[in-house]
Amino acid sequence: MNATMSLEKVKHYPVMLNHILSIISPQHGGTFIDCTFGGGGYSKAILNFPKTKVIAIDRDRLTKAHADFLLKKFPERFNFFQDKFSNINKVVEDNTNPKAIIFDLGLSSFQILDKERGFSFDSKNFLNMEMGINEYSAYDVVNSLDKDHLATIIKVLGEEKDGRLIANKIDKYRKKKLIKTSQELSSIINDAKKNYNKHKKNPSTKTFQAIRIFVNKELTELISGLIESAKLLKNGGKLIVVSFHSLEDKIVKNFFNLYSSLKKNPSRYLPKKENNPSLFEMISKKPLVADANEVKENIRSRSAKLRYAIRNDDSFVYPVEFKKRFVNYFKLEEGRI
Ligand SMILES: C[S@@+](CC[C@H](N)C(=O)[O-])C[C@H]1O[C@@H](n2cnc3c(N)ncnc32)[C@H](O)[C@@H]1O
Repeated sequence: MNATMSLEKVKHYPVMLNHILSIISPQHGGTFIDCTFGGGGYSKAILNFPKTKVIAIDRDRLTKAHADFLLKKFPERFNFFQDKFSNINKVVEDNTNPKAIIFDLGLSSFQILDKERGFSFDSKNFLNMEMGINEYSAYDVVNSLDKDHLATIIKVLGEEKDGRLIANKIDKYRKKKLIKTSQELSSIINDAKKNYNKHKKNPSTKTFQAIRIFVNKELTELISGLIESAKLLKNGGKLIVVSFHSLEDKIVKNFFNLYSSLKKNPSRYLPKKENNPSLFEMISKKPLVADANEVKENIRSRSAKLRYAIRNDDSFVYPVEFKKRFVNYFKLEEGRI
């Protein structure tokens, strides 16, 4: 599969789209920023409302094919940048005043299904796992990264308790023969976890997650993306994030909890924020989740958590405490290959 893989060929489900639309009310018009364009599901749904404009970003060059389709259809109202969303302030003008900035994290169905990308366990192609604009691939990571750092990555970014065991197996194997495909990597991990209950998830799931996060520096991208978005949003603008695993959700939750006041019924039991500026107002501390019908239709939506908050000022104060809280992720995702 490649750039020509079209929206028509792969059944595409934009996760929690109805929730997104009811939060952003595109029927009233305005400019919206889709930070994770993917197959263009959100962008297209917003552009179907006549008074809207969409600025979309995606680091994956293959998404350009989907973007071209929308550029042709909505030349006056759509713009696309192939970039990382941490660069949002470099590609979007300061005075844009978006009504909402939206993140739908992780991989698109196009990326998962594209065997050439090496995201799936059974891919016999080059061990790649790059979303786009990367410094190194999964091949570089598993064959060259220091064994201790590899073990820490698997443990922390994959929440895999057997990180050390798996890193040792990988190290032993790579000394004899370079690991070239995802299938090879998966069979090494399965060997390390041979006592694992196979009725649970695939034994490679957590390690693949860890390596993918590391290759794409996903957590630090998210941290920077949230901070940069808060800079760009003006009073009333909404920041919306759909996340798919606990590491991502923890980052989003911390950001909103540290820098928001609750709009209704603030609980007197909530810890008082010390010296943290209130950048946002939150409607609820609880995330929204997909309903049963959506989960039935699209299993990926089962783990989706949607959090959002509304910017309550035009001025910006740097979220020092938030950055400090996750400084370890910056150390961990630093390239040392
Ligand atoms: C789950 S998909 C988005 C699907 C999209 N909402 C739709 O309806 O088609 C996530 C997309 O975000 C992109 N992405 C992930 N991290 C990114 C980053 N740091 N900067 C830019 N794009 C990113 C991926 O390349 C992928 O195409």
